[in-house]
Amino acid sequence: MAQKRRVVRGLDLVEERLFTLASEYPGVLGEACLATLAAGGKRVRPLLTLLCSRRGEPVGDPVLRGAVAVELVHMATLVHDDVLDRAELRRGRPTVAHQYGAGIAVSAGNYLLARAFSELVGAGATAAVDLLSATAVGLSEGEVLQRAEAHDVSIGPDAYVRRCERKTADLFSAACSLGALLSGAPEAASVVAEYGRLIGLAFQVFDDILDCSGEQAATGKRPGTDIRDGTITLPLIYALEGRPELAETLRRPAVSDADVDAVLSAVADSGALGRARDDALRYIAEARAVLARCPDTVERGLLEQVAAQVVDRYS
Ligand code: IPE
Ligand code: IPE
Ligand code: MG
Ligand code: MG
Repeated sequence: MAQKRRVVRGLDLVEERLFTLASEYPGVLGEACLATLAAGGKRVRPLLTLLCSRRGEPVGDPVLRGAVAVELVHMATLVHDDVLDRAELRRGRPTVAHQYGAGIAVSAGNYLLARAFSELVGAGATAAVDLLSATAVGLSEGEVLQRAEAHDVSIGPDAYVRRCERKTADLFSAACSLGALLSGAPEAASVVAEYGRLIGLAFQVFDDILDCSGEQAATGKRPGTDIRDGTITLPLIYALEGRPELAETLRRPAVSDADVDAVLSAVADSGALGRARDDALRYIAEARAVLARCPDTVERGLLEQVAAQVVDRYS
């Protein structure tokens, strides 16, 4: 299928460009960025940018720049996120923070962020730079909010969703909008943005479920990281409703491995994972409904598949 080939070729070009950019920087910063890149990652966000771009073979340079910029912002935020979350493992490898220390991780994240914007400026579209910049600002605010709300067991589902919109869904949304904007199809931007937001919310809920129930070998991350750093996620919020006694552990600034295991098994027994999963599936269903309104210029069938894959990965 020609459209699929176009997207696969586009992703290859994005990958090449990411490696070139990460290789340019000398010393330990370059080493840290390259290690993060080489460790893999699903590249969901650049895929969305390519899929939301107007058809045309090959994918145009502005769209490729948008896709690269989105992944660089994502990578930067992951490197910084692992400082904030005190995470030890990412993409199956030690995090930059764990391997090189918080100072190098902050600098490497800053470098990736700066490169993201220099890449996007080359696309020549001020609206695209404004959008990604506003998204990156919101993302930082979402991360700060998450720290401010750490160990706060009174947080409810609405506050959780607001946080996830900023820290995760808005970047998915921007990834989609950029595809439309940078391929000369601004009229498609708002509808694909809404699709991206919904997919992003589902993605974060599934990620939070996996933090409770996923296998390290599959996720590349250490289970229970959210419990260790006090992030009160949707599965924990639902589990607290039926088991308020969990609050005592979740409020503590430091917990043992045995405490984490006890919370994880209480969460699994509480039915909270199924409730959170139902919420995520509702977001996916809404995203599909939005897709049905997308103009033909958008790769609707492939976007449907992305929606299905977000679910499959977590099944
Ligand atoms: C991780 O994102 C951060 C979340 C928003 C949950 P991904 O799961 O897309 O991370 P990589 O890029 O595939 O490692
Ligand atoms: C998403 O939240 C982080 C960002 C948006 C940067 P998490 O903290 O749950 O992501 P992981 O689990 O570390 O990948
Ligand atoms: Mg994290
Ligand atoms: Mg997580």
